[in-house]
Amino acid sequence: MSKDGRVFCGSLKLSHVGQRVHLAGWVDALRDHGDVLFIHLRDRSGVIQVVFSPEVTPSHVCRLSESLRNEYCVQVRGVVNRRAQGTENPHIQTGTLEVSADELTILSGAQTLPFPVSEKAMLAEGGARRTDSVAEDLRLQYRYLDLRRPTMQENLFKRYAIIKTARDFLHEQGFMEVETPMLTKSTPEGARDYLVPSRHFPGQFYALPQSPQLFKQLLMVAGLERYFQVTRCFRDEDLRPNRQPEFTQLDLEASFMDDHFICELTEEMVCRMFRVGSIDLPRPFPRMTYREAMDSCGTDRPDLRFGLRFVEATDLFQNTRYGIFRQVLQRGGCIKGINVRGQSEKLSKNVLQNEYAREIVPSFGAKGMTWMRVMDGDLDSNIVQFFSDQEKRSIVERFDAVTGDVVLMIADPSYETVVSALGQLRLHLGHRLELISPHAFCPLWVTDFPLFEATEDGVTSNHHPFTSPHGDDLDPDDRQGLLSVLSRAYDLVMNGEELGGGSMRINQKELQLKVFRALGLSHEEVEEKFGFFLRALDFGAPPHGGLALGLDRVVSMVLGTPSIREVTAFPKNRSAFCPLTEAPSEVSQDQLKELGLLDLVEVPSVPGMGERGELIDSLSWAARIGLGEEEKPAVMEALKEAAQLADVAGQRAGEEEPVYAPHRVAGPLREHQTARVCAFAQTGEVFKNAPSVKGDYFKVASVLDP
Ligand code: AMO
Repeated sequence: MSKDGRVFCGSLKLSHVGQRVHLAGWVDALRDHGDVLFIHLRDRSGVIQVVFSPEVTPSHVCRLSESLRNEYCVQVRGVVNRRAQGTENPHIQTGTLEVSADELTILSGAQTLPFPVSEKAMLAEGGARRTDSVAEDLRLQYRYLDLRRPTMQENLFKRYAIIKTARDFLHEQGFMEVETPMLTKSTPEGARDYLVPSRHFPGQFYALPQSPQLFKQLLMVAGLERYFQVTRCFRDEDLRPNRQPEFTQLDLEASFMDDHFICELTEEMVCRMFRVGSIDLPRPFPRMTYREAMDSCGTDRPDLRFGLRFVEATDLFQNTRYGIFRQVLQRGGCIKGINVRGQSEKLSKNVLQNEYAREIVPSFGAKGMTWMRVMDGDLDSNIVQFFSDQEKRSIVERFDAVTGDVVLMIADPSYETVVSALGQLRLHLGHRLELISPHAFCPLWVTDFPLFEATEDGVTSNHHPFTSPHGDDLDPDDRQGLLSVLSRAYDLVMNGEELGGGSMRINQKELQLKVFRALGLSHEEVEEKFGFFLRALDFGAPPHGGLALGLDRVVSMVLGTPSIREVTAFPKNRSAFCPLTEAPSEVSQDQLKELGLLDLVEVPSVPGMGERGELIDSLSWAARIGLGEEEKPAVMEALKEAAQLADVAGQRAGEEEPVYAPHRVAGPLREHQTARVCAFAQTGEVFKNAPSVKGDYFKVASVLDP
């Protein structure tokens, strides 16, 4: 009970029966039985039934209760009773109790709701109400109502509990939380930066951190030895389901330790975090090198919840008569396959040939797929006649195939194409054949990544440029050699998702300079971008390493939510737009001017721009309609008419209501005047038939939107 005597709805127990209690919360649901009104009162802790009945409730309170509607915020006093037998509600925790109200205060009313908030059925026989059908953008627009739902409150509460578990653990281990700047210089993690203009230094920008990488390394140089931080990171990158433009990392770093220490520490911490969701992870987490992961699953984040591992088959076909394989091998390619055990009934010839070989596998980037069903120790396929008996025997042996199995093979001159297509096929089959248990959790460490990845004209860092290579004999000018250098990086992967990543760092300036040179950065670029960091390496930088967990992903996995947006209080939608605040949004010219941004934009030169006489050329260019000379007079005439109409409208504008517009726009002819947004635009009605919508905008063909 709180100081003012308030009791939480969900905390009421049989022991409260007979007591007069004070409750406060929101009207979750109402049921009107003529003279008796039942409501479900909900607060953060749960729901309790409150009864307004003329028998016990004073008449003025009964009258007031008639005005209650869903989501009114109210305060109630009354006596706790046991419900009559047969009227209990097993769907709520307090289902055996009810409160007979004798006092009611309406603290705040509520308008008609954009979607139902209640998740608990009023009636004993009803189940929980589903809100999955509510459009996500509407949920995000009214996020404060969406967050009233018990499921969302539970998600946020569990998120808090999981993060607290990690904080407590790291505190126990001697780690100290330190905040690092948000307004900073670019920290490369492979994405674009979000930039913030500086008013004091017009034309100059801060970058929001893609991660605290450089600062945590500087904290190691500073001698803090064990640092962590729960922090926001900002990355302007292509959005995928489990990516947000701003997200939260649990970032840590330690000095005088090796990768074994970081991985052990992380395993223990992650196990404790999963235990908050009653999930026991198997320990120790297995390890796989990057090469093993690519060779066996075709990805650096393998999903180990099911088998279907790749089998190497290149050597079986060195002298084959089968044309496709022969050509691939002549071009130095490779052949790999999967044995889909015992699934030949589900994978008919028709499915294998017409769906997989013709459609699905080509969509994964391979030219095709060879399939064989195993029948009575022999192979059955549309191409099996091209294989020698020896080849058939070795396929059966290598794939350990028995009757009922289906062997699938992909051959291509490019190793990358083979493993990537087979990896996607593996996942596709895993889902289609329901081989993936939704309750399995299979963590693993992927280690020994290549330090660099090839780009068109050089190399780029696989993780970030501060990752230490194995050894320090790296030749920055030998592109081919660089691609074979392995790093001391490790990724934590679970169920096919990358939950975290880290590495041992470079603490020697010479090596760091070599890496920058390998990345093609000039002396000037290095000095301009990383000079401050390199200077720190001149002053006794200790050996150090660390890691960052993607907290949103960890929490989402513990709670089994379909996306990280379900565990983020105020996420952006799939277009990196916030339907609640409508960010990003335009800013005033004054703000731009103050920030010195107006002068930065060079107006592109448009044919005919500025000169009245060439207006027609300018329009023709802007609309991309390429008007011919002979067409111009007629269009000019039509434009004149339109201008006259606009003048009339302009004169009336002072007297009449402004035009309606789906979005808050200022018409070019009505500078400083904002059109009113019509109500049906706000409910989304106006966009109902739009082919594609982003935030408050229709998408139109680019020709209409130059
Ligand atoms: P990395 O870039 O691998 O490493 O990021 C660490 C983890 O952060 C999560 N993550 C994201 N989560 C949601 N939305 C995103 N856009 C997003 N991007 C990344 C992932 C990822 O594994 N500085 C290094 C760490 C280190 O070396 O210590 C870093 O940031 O779960």
